[in-house]
Amino acid sequence: MNLALIGYGKMGKAIEEIALQKGHNIVLKIDITNADEFNQANLSKADVAIEFTGPESAVDNVKKCIEAGVPVVSGSTGWLDKWKEVVQFCNENNGGLLYASNFSIGVNIFFEVNRHLGRLMASRNEYNVSVEEIHHKQKKDAPSGTAITLAEGILENLPAKNKWALGETSQKDELSIISKRIDPAPGTHIITYDSPVDSIEIKHTAHSRTGFASGAVLAAEFMIGKIGVYGMKDVLKIN
Ligand SMILES: NC(=O)c1ccc[n+]([C@@H]2O[C@H](COP(=O)([O-])OP(=O)(O)OC[C@H]3O[C@@H](n4cnc5c(N)ncnc54)[C@H](O)[C@@H]3O)[C@@H](O)[C@H]2O)c1
Repeated sequence: MNLALIGYGKMGKAIEEIALQKGHNIVLKIDITNADEFNQANLSKADVAIEFTGPESAVDNVKKCIEAGVPVVSGSTGWLDKWKEVVQFCNENNGGLLYASNFSIGVNIFFEVNRHLGRLMASRNEYNVSVEEIHHKQKKDAPSGTAITLAEGILENLPAKNKWALGETSQKDELSIISKRIDPAPGTHIITYDSPVDSIEIKHTAHSRTGFASGAVLAAEFMIGKIGVYGMKDVLKIN
């Protein structure tokens, strides 16, 4: 597969390593320093683009790939306020888009465990639930995209909670997400159900960026020639 890497920071470099190990070619690498090379002619050499830049640039980058007719895998977090607009753009332009707040296989299984636990706890009002995420200090967005996905998995099951809130909250219908920034954590997420008599805790800890990078390459392999909007559930065949 011929790949374009949009964003050549910590994740772009980790993805390059895995892609080369799997025998793929990197035909384009775009970073803030060579943005002028991010054009249709160069993009058209790629079967799929993988975009890991950041919240400020993700939407424009994704749209540019779609306009060039190249399916795009995006891992940038912090831009989901524009999700509907981007999905509409993708569908109107017959594009291919796969977004995941977290590409690690373990986290995608953890998402399902979290939903299942939420269903079991739906009527257990004696427990208060909270989400905690820990990431390195360079992370620009808070809460993490993964924490938001986890919170949504809880909110869809717990009638007592209506929305998530960043930080401690005293509102009973709000689900608190605590964000901590501690180096060098690549990403830790903890869900706690706490009652006066006991606690239930589920936790995912990423040991490095390799899990995210491997998942992103797997997603790119899945996206070759695809039109439409997909997620990691489609790649991993999780229902
Ligand atoms: N979905 C996941 O599994 C996952 C995992 C890790 C990180 N992330 C997210 O991926 C993004 C990147 O993370 P990172 O750790 O690689 O960050 P990073 O800061 O190390 O790298 C980002 C790179 O993008 C480049 N960039 C910025 N604006 C650009 C633009 N307009 N055009 C081209 N390049 C541009 C920067 O120069 C930088 O090299 C963040 O949003 C992070 O939260 C997602």
